[in-house]
Amino acid sequence: MRLRAVPALLMFSAIATILGVASTCTSAGWSRVSAHQETKSIPSSDAEARAFVTDLLKKMTLEEKVGQMSQVPLNSTPDRPVDEMIRKGQVGSFLFITDAAEINRLQHVAVEQGRLHIPLLFGFDVIHGFRTIYPVPLAMAASWDPSVAERAQTMAAKEARATGVQWTFAPMVDIARDARWGRIMEGAGEDPFLGSRMAEAQVRGFQGAHLGSPEHILACVKHFAGYGAALGGRDYEESNISDEQLWNVYLPPFHAAIEAGVGSVMSAYMDLNGVPATGNQFLLHDVLRDDWKFKGMVVSDWNSVSSLTTHGFARDDEAAAVQAVNAGVDMEMTSHSFRDELPAAVGKGFVTEATINAAVEDILMTKYRMGLFKDPYIDVPHVASQLVTPEQREATRETAARTAVLLRNEGNLLPLRGKYKSIAVIGMLADSKADIMGSWSLAGHPEDSITVLEGMRKRFSPGAQITYTKGVEIEREQPSIFDDQFVSPKPTLKTEAERDAEFHHAIDLVRQSDVSVLVLGELQSMSGERASRSSLALPGKQEELLEAAVATGKPVVLVLLNGRPLNITWASEHVPAILEAWYPGTEGGDAIADLLSGDVNPGGKLPIAWPRSVGQIPINYARNLTQIPEALDTRYWDGTSAPLYPFGYGLSYSSFTMGNLKLAEPSVHAGSMLKVSVDVENTSSRDGDEVVELYTHQRAGSASRPVRELKGFERVTLRAHEKRAVMLMLNTKDLGFWSPQTHHWGLEPGMFDLWVGSDESAGDHASFELLP
Ligand code: BGC
Repeated sequence: MRLRAVPALLMFSAIATILGVASTCTSAGWSRVSAHQETKSIPSSDAEARAFVTDLLKKMTLEEKVGQMSQVPLNSTPDRPVDEMIRKGQVGSFLFITDAAEINRLQHVAVEQGRLHIPLLFGFDVIHGFRTIYPVPLAMAASWDPSVAERAQTMAAKEARATGVQWTFAPMVDIARDARWGRIMEGAGEDPFLGSRMAEAQVRGFQGAHLGSPEHILACVKHFAGYGAALGGRDYEESNISDEQLWNVYLPPFHAAIEAGVGSVMSAYMDLNGVPATGNQFLLHDVLRDDWKFKGMVVSDWNSVSSLTTHGFARDDEAAAVQAVNAGVDMEMTSHSFRDELPAAVGKGFVTEATINAAVEDILMTKYRMGLFKDPYIDVPHVASQLVTPEQREATRETAARTAVLLRNEGNLLPLRGKYKSIAVIGMLADSKADIMGSWSLAGHPEDSITVLEGMRKRFSPGAQITYTKGVEIEREQPSIFDDQFVSPKPTLKTEAERDAEFHHAIDLVRQSDVSVLVLGELQSMSGERASRSSLALPGKQEELLEAAVATGKPVVLVLLNGRPLNITWASEHVPAILEAWYPGTEGGDAIADLLSGDVNPGGKLPIAWPRSVGQIPINYARNLTQIPEALDTRYWDGTSAPLYPFGYGLSYSSFTMGNLKLAEPSVHAGSMLKVSVDVENTSSRDGDEVVELYTHQRAGSASRPVRELKGFERVTLRAHEKRAVMLMLNTKDLGFWSPQTHHWGLEPGMFDLWVGSDESAGDHASFELLP
């Protein structure tokens, strides 16, 4: 593992204005710290931990305290000079070391040779797996099953902790409504309710029952806050978010993670409404500490403290360190303005020692709760046997199968089981071990991956003859930040003639085969950090290849490997079967073969409305109804304003009906739950999954409310021809919103519409009254 090539830089300046309003925002809906959080994140020995940390703090010099507040990036090649820094107490944490022996060695230096024997905290981006790679987070959200995300992150934590990594920079819970933004892949999509459920589930998965649970790691919810609203989907650019959108859309998943007991928070790179998130007192102090009573640790993003100068927010590194620490950042990632500047800044009175103590206390309490003072080391000889185990492989294969979304299946082309004697598998991505892992798979080993081609061969040969060719090659022209870590296959066809010949060879294979599976989409480097796009087209000549394949008249299945919705409008009308497999991870090829063969029935749903073209962005479903509502789909004269596929959409090899929607009561008091039931029937002769989705709309209030908002869902498995009443509990707390008129979060009594169905266009309707 080598060190990441390029530190991300923030290029945009900001004017230091302080957001005023929301520091006063409180309400029932945003209940302060919950009992749940108290018990989840604070172990029973809390008093003992505090006494230990208070005592330790008294022994520390100012330099040692600031050392704890410094996180140093290191690659796994031993970098001996850091030993001296550790001995002097100048490092609190490392990021990016994944070599177990080196982690242990450094820990021994800290614990045995450091003056105060304080253990180090080793952090790493365990985003969707450690060595065994799981489907990307957007895919996990497409499962519409929080237990899928919880299990995946439990398994990821297990491998990481065994290796000595005790801290992940995940979950990423940024709401993203712009598919151009590369990092849309790392979150749960566009919806705050789905996003909140996925956030909680991932926190539970990473951390277990409480901080310090064996085989678990510290989670870090990021990027606080508003990063997903980057202007034009351009990574790192400023976000301008109204208070109403901030409170109702962008903050809820963070709050959910905190309620679930997340132990750390990462401040974001960008300016939020003109103030950099890393120096933003409103976010880091007023919301996080005052309103939400967050008790854990706050880390900056990569270099984002010293970048405060780039923003035009801090005049120099000293001011950057002062502004970040005074805003509420406890630990600085990568840049070293804390280490270089804070001791003197305290002397000058720019930062109080009490502020430093509070930051160090957060860090040491975290280390204590994680059990690092008692048990700092790992069992190096046993690490290898705990990685990519059969149990891990099985878990990621099942996860991948549950996250895929069937977008089209005309004439029941799928499943393929036993129907065809020759299958052509086409596309560069079909045989790329690196790309099936997706971005943020930094500890993954491509050689562990099963490609689609391998999965298809295992599943269908010898019954069917499988042939393969690339058809076209694709390449990211601009370097990616992870280029030196794991690399997609490079194009090998040098001349136009070679490329033409390969293209025609692929079409010949399609012609000669009973059915073809075209595996198209994006290289792993085409989505993720610094991987934004101005177009959603299939890169390179993949669209031409697809159209030529369909033109043969032979049946074609399109399997998409990608981290964002792509422009598949033509395909949605001409390609009979489309399976969105996202980046499915280490066992992706087997999982896709499971799905295509019909051994597993797809049941995922889209966590984001799918645009027809880049011009429709943003096209999130939860928008306000205004003038001429019946023209919602004709807001453009040159094309429809309806998405290609609605939020929550996805097919199955089974078919379902829903009906007999019943509410337990016609009205409900604020603070209670409303029972909603609906009959779901599997009308097919095949077992399958359906997601029951519940949406509401408030008819009148102190502010306009979105036309529909998701407020409940449940993924259910029904046997062939089974009919079942599915009960959803609507929590009235979830009907609250932050009103731009009252500047408060609250429930406003009145009439609500409610719909239940299989996507956001759900037709079964009822209404109820919310009583005070
Ligand atoms: C990203 C974070 C990540 C950090 C450490 C940053 O560039 O924005 O999400 O956790 O690097 O890798």
